[in-house]
Amino acid sequence: MKAVKKMDAPLFPTRNDIPAATRAKIVALLNARLADCIDLQTQFKQAHWNVKGPNFIALHELFDKVNEAVEEYVDTIAERAVQLGGVAMGTARMVARSSSLAEYPHAVEGREHVEALSNALAAFGKSARAAIDQAEKLNDTVTVDLFTEVSRGTDQWLWFVEAHVQAEE
Ligand SMILES: [Fe+2]
Repeated sequence: MKAVKKMDAPLFPTRNDIPAATRAKIVALLNARLADCIDLQTQFKQAHWNVKGPNFIALHELFDKVNEAVEEYVDTIAERAVQLGGVAMGTARMVARSSSLAEYPHAVEGREHVEALSNALAAFGKSARAAIDQAEKLNDTVTVDLFTEVSRGTDQWLWFVEAHVQAEE
């Protein structure tokens, strides 16, 4: 079996029964969401380090907790791509080229970070939810389940972060 070329990364042969053409599409989908997810994770670290204001300690700790949860989604998405014969595209430069999230603003005060991170979580939640449908169309129920799990977690973190400003809106 020869590796099928897909863009600049090869698709490796595998005994997994999903057809190669389908695997290539799922790997591309996984890599697109991987870029978003790594971007999201580093935005939480950025906020964890730089947040200032009266809610410092609560936000500092919450942002690191979300970072840790998102790191698990990153690993799960990347490893699914590799299981399907793909190459996980997860370096900082690869992510910077392909993330669909907005650039993180120069936020200082807690509320600014909460707003920026709520936007990032909502954007990622939307793309992860769309990935459920895309994986469903490709008949890959395992990837459907993966993105369902990621969406469930992302919705929870959006609640945790957004709740800080919901009463004021
Ligand atoms: Fe830290």
